[in-house]
Amino acid sequence: MTTVDVSPLTRPDEEEVPPWWRQAAVYQIYPRSFADANGDGLGDIPGITSRADYLAELGIDAVWLSPFYPSALADGGYDVADYRNVDPRLGTLDDFDDMVAALHARGIRVVVDIVPNHTSDQHLWFQEALAAGRGAPARERYIFREGTGPDGSEPPADWESAFGGPAWRRVADGQWYLHNFAPEQPDLNWDHPDVRADFVTTLRFWADRGVDGFRIDVAHMLTKDLTDPLPSRATLDALPRDGHHPLIDRDDVHEVYAQWRAVLNEYDPPRTAVAEAWVDPSRIPLYASPESLGQAFNFDLLEADFDAGMFRRIVADNLALAAESGSSSTWVLSNHDVVRHATRYGLARPERREDGRPAVKHGTEWVRGGGDPAALDAEAGLRRGRAATLFMLGLPGSAYLYQGEELGLHEVAEIPDGERQDPTFFRTGGEDYGRDGCRVPLPWVSSEASFGFGAGRPHLPQPAWFGDLAVDVAEQDPTSTLRLYRRALTLRERLQTAEQLEWIPTGRPDVLRYRRPNGWEVVTNFGGEPYTVTGSDADPLLASTGDAALIVPGESTLWLGPRG
Ligand code: GLC
Repeated sequence: MTTVDVSPLTRPDEEEVPPWWRQAAVYQIYPRSFADANGDGLGDIPGITSRADYLAELGIDAVWLSPFYPSALADGGYDVADYRNVDPRLGTLDDFDDMVAALHARGIRVVVDIVPNHTSDQHLWFQEALAAGRGAPARERYIFREGTGPDGSEPPADWESAFGGPAWRRVADGQWYLHNFAPEQPDLNWDHPDVRADFVTTLRFWADRGVDGFRIDVAHMLTKDLTDPLPSRATLDALPRDGHHPLIDRDDVHEVYAQWRAVLNEYDPPRTAVAEAWVDPSRIPLYASPESLGQAFNFDLLEADFDAGMFRRIVADNLALAAESGSSSTWVLSNHDVVRHATRYGLARPERREDGRPAVKHGTEWVRGGGDPAALDAEAGLRRGRAATLFMLGLPGSAYLYQGEELGLHEVAEIPDGERQDPTFFRTGGEDYGRDGCRVPLPWVSSEASFGFGAGRPHLPQPAWFGDLAVDVAEQDPTSTLRLYRRALTLRERLQTAEQLEWIPTGRPDVLRYRRPNGWEVVTNFGGEPYTVTGSDADPLLASTGDAALIVPGESTLWLGPRG
């Protein structure tokens, strides 16, 4: 038996309660697709407030809101035009305050998304930069360069943006600016003092309004070394990501986070932050350390197959990494950027590169193929998805859930091309269908227009099968995924214990079993043959099949523990 101790480096006093974020269940809301109170087809802040009881009943500790700021929606709101306001289509700052009050009154904390790598091209600074012309100080807040070639009509470098296509765009006077994402998302220059100061103002703005924490978008990309001559794309790709890469995961980004940490720690309780950092695992602790953001996403489960060996290695590695940083681990199966996990698990396993990572994002090929029903085993996908969720919810650390997974939603593939919104779809000429399929507005009431999302035409079309998965239907069905999530999250609250885990041998390579210090046990059978639990005096409490018993059927998870 191996025991991984992931307690904080400095143990809190006996009486001291560990900070809430260390083992929270955080529910991600994609606001424009959650609930639409004013009937314009876009979800909004009052819509969230109207569902506060639903969120409380779900049993989560916090919500994380994807961007709700003014935005031209070139990238689903991750193109922010004004960091300290609410998109008028989504409400007002007063509505935001009401939402925070409603959630806090129910014991739910609020985390908001900060997007510091780039602004929207509609942001006042970028508009000023365009108007001011070449050489003007207003351009220095972004990354403007002269082009190459005899007349400067070639980009400064042949770099490619994350959504496909070139990473440089030319403006009317002939200069070029860098955008690592869509052209409507110009990268900021983090060497500029205005940029640094402004984000501190933004953090304070929301922290002063009672926000409990921040999710930091592409946290590994802010600072850059753009000394001339700029390297070619081939050179860039070949450079090691060891802290000195010109664009990615630079050591000097932690100067920014050290400053932010000092600001967040001025609050009581200190505000939390979690980094979205797609970096080599060995470098995650830099972001997760208490001197930096304090926690970082670990996306390993989200890239894994439904496979005992992979899950076990990922858990062991990430608990060790979290211990190294003094943070707690995070676990994610779904979010707004990937194909939903119920769908991924119902598809053939992805091809993997030599390093074990999937060659392409799992499930995107299926979406591109129009969501071929013959290729998806929807039932098996959901069965495995429910088992994986219960496996994850038992782990030490924070679990991040994505709206709609509690309804057992599958990815929506049947979105007509003309209604797609994701820039990846447009920038790859339709090659990559992008992320719209997990962002379709939620079904609340099966018999209502837009399944109760709101009175208007939803901004992304909902398929007919959403009706069967609507909240009102799920609430009546004791076997529904919603009822399973509610029971699991409520039990998780009661069973939560010290951040430790002990593996119990099962004698089967396809069955994982772990125990938490208070006797809470999680058994996941990844295989086909039933597994019988022996040697436990704990009671079966909950099963992903709905039937908690000592015989664990294939592709299911059982929780055992002390009865409440
Ligand atoms: C992050 C977000 C993603 C967004 C990108 C650019 O990866 O999760 O949705 O498109 O950053 O801001």
